[in-house]
Amino acid sequence: MDLSDLILSRHSVRDFSEEAITDEELDIILEAGRQAPSAQNKQCWRYIVLKDRENIKKFARHIGLVGTVNFFIANAPVVIIACADPKKSVKMNGQEYYLVDTAISFQQMMLAGWGMGIGSCWLAAFNEKQVRKYLGIPENIRVVGLSPFGYPRDKKGLYSKFLKTFAGSSKRMDKGQIIKYERWETKL
Ligand SMILES: Cc1cc2nc3c(=O)[nH]c(=O)nc-3n(C[C@H](O)[C@H](O)[C@H](O)COP(=O)(O)O)c2cc1C
Repeated sequence: MDLSDLILSRHSVRDFSEEAITDEELDIILEAGRQAPSAQNKQCWRYIVLKDRENIKKFARHIGLVGTVNFFIANAPVVIIACADPKKSVKMNGQEYYLVDTAISFQQMMLAGWGMGIGSCWLAAFNEKQVRKYLGIPENIRVVGLSPFGYPRDKKGLYSKFLKTFAGSSKRMDKGQIIKYERWETKL
């Protein structure tokens, strides 16, 4: 698959087969994140990798009320929690670049996984305090997002089918709505 096909075919995966992810595959995924660009090359991201199925199932029950919708992570062979140390990144124009750095790195992991047929899904619906407590993450570290990683299951679950029916699906805005050339408003 070339890069363009890889990017265009990627979609969120919420239903996982029983197939395990090998240590070699996991290493390719983690390396893709490690090689990401970051502001001033500060590499503020930190990751927690869950590989123990029982721990994953337990973790899925400890991501807070808001995380109930993301209970499907319980069926993934691997879950990665993307954290960051904001102090190790750059603040410019009042913007916190730790979020950008970590998002780029995590997305690289997801694309590397997809290149091997491994699906994932960005998740922000979790209670940071509860995730921090369960995983023993210190107060100065932010939990930016988390994702299950696993081979997609052919048969989609009810929740995935439900998600497809509203805006949270894979629909995209037209280019005309999101791209402007030369200036914000072009006066004719
Ligand atoms: C920052 C972020 C947070 C997200 N949080 C969730 C989430 O908590 N639960 C979920 O099922 N999907 C979540 N998603 C996945 C989006 O719903 C999905 O990416 C979007 O609908 C586009 O679909 P696609 O990824 O299949 O192209 C999140 C995506 C991003 C980028």
